[in-house]
Amino acid sequence: MQKSKILITCAKGIPPYLKQELHALNFPLCFELVAGVETEGAFDDTLLLNLFLRTGHRVLFPVAEFKANNADELYQELSAIAWEEYLPEDGYLCVTSSVDNTSIRDSRYASLKSKDAIVDRIKEKCGKRPDSGPERDRSVVHLYWKDDHCAVYLDTSGETLSRRGYRKIPLTAPMQETLAAAVVLATGWKGEGNFISPMCGSGTLAIEAALIALNRPPGLLRSNFGFMHIRNFNESLWNEVREKAKKQAEKAFVGKIIATDMSPGAVEAAKKNAATAGVEHLIEFGVCDYADTPLPDGGGVIVLNPAYGERMGEAAKLEETYKGIGDFFKQKCRGYTGYVFTGNPGLAKKVSLKPKQSIPFFNSGIECRLLEYELYEGTRKKKKTKSSGE
Ligand SMILES: C[S@@+](CC[C@H](N)C(=O)[O-])C[C@H]1O[C@@H](n2cnc3c(N)ncnc32)[C@H](O)[C@@H]1O
Repeated sequence: MQKSKILITCAKGIPPYLKQELHALNFPLCFELVAGVETEGAFDDTLLLNLFLRTGHRVLFPVAEFKANNADELYQELSAIAWEEYLPEDGYLCVTSSVDNTSIRDSRYASLKSKDAIVDRIKEKCGKRPDSGPERDRSVVHLYWKDDHCAVYLDTSGETLSRRGYRKIPLTAPMQETLAAAVVLATGWKGEGNFISPMCGSGTLAIEAALIALNRPPGLLRSNFGFMHIRNFNESLWNEVREKAKKQAEKAFVGKIIATDMSPGAVEAAKKNAATAGVEHLIEFGVCDYADTPLPDGGGVIVLNPAYGERMGEAAKLEETYKGIGDFFKQKCRGYTGYVFTGNPGLAKKVSLKPKQSIPFFNSGIECRLLEYELYEGTRKKKKTKSSGE
């Protein structure tokens, strides 16, 4: 089968984890972008990538590259592509686009023009044209157009891979599933030992940790992907890789995953989401203040994602919470590695511990940090000695 470059998009800050995942899946790394990674493979490889990747958003398989200066040239070039070989005439098509061309003020116009070119071509060749619209649950074509350079792709994911399908109850400020998976990978937690998620909200971090602990690919949770709506979709290969992945996805887990929140509603939602993801048996839930979260012996990883006050006046109220997290780490979490995920550097300082690492991420366009604190025995003592000498 012919190999081609495959582009996997992701959020800014995620490429290091996407690269790590590709390496583990034996895919080559061809190129790294700010919000994506390029690998190489055949169309059938997109099935594997959609099934296994935890941190990518979309797996894009290229169809053509060409030059176009305006919408008419775009239409001409797209009309020359044999779309009837890729898309069923009785299907449904959505065209998405990312456009930076001076002749186009609204990228929706580029999507519309592309859709027209594709369906007109199919009508001419097959006598019938697919329906079209904004839903991404069937065939999706993506146009990237910068200056006069165009690249068109089959979006083999369809809906973004961050929609795993388990988060039925999102609550407020939930972390995107792909970001939560990257945060777990960034802590170096490999599914062994304890993973503690106080302030768990809708449970995303704990659920992603549980999926990692079981070695369960996130794509097993979904029944629909863009590649299923492309002609010659290899259904027997898909069934085979899914079955194989299911058998490997029951790794024995040694350790505990604990998720707590002070809000009973949040814990209820997290439990339901974990049940939908099929991992509720792996997570111990509790309603309590973060500082009362039970910490099993043996150490491990604690990740807190407190609110970070995006609205005026909120940040001041959160200062006490961040100060408290520092005390919790110092007084109760010895032997663990503590992490705080926040988009507010001022509040992060209130933790009053020196982070060993500050790992950059982006959440809904806001630059965030995952701050790592090593909480070895004696942290508290050292700090006391220092402050008493000042
Ligand atoms: C930003 S949300 C966490 C979102 C979560 N990562 C997710 O994916 O849904 C912060 C959570 O902290 C909880 N929280 C705030 N103060 C707390 C406290 N003192 N003790 C425990 N939970 C607290 C809130 O109820 C909320 O669910």
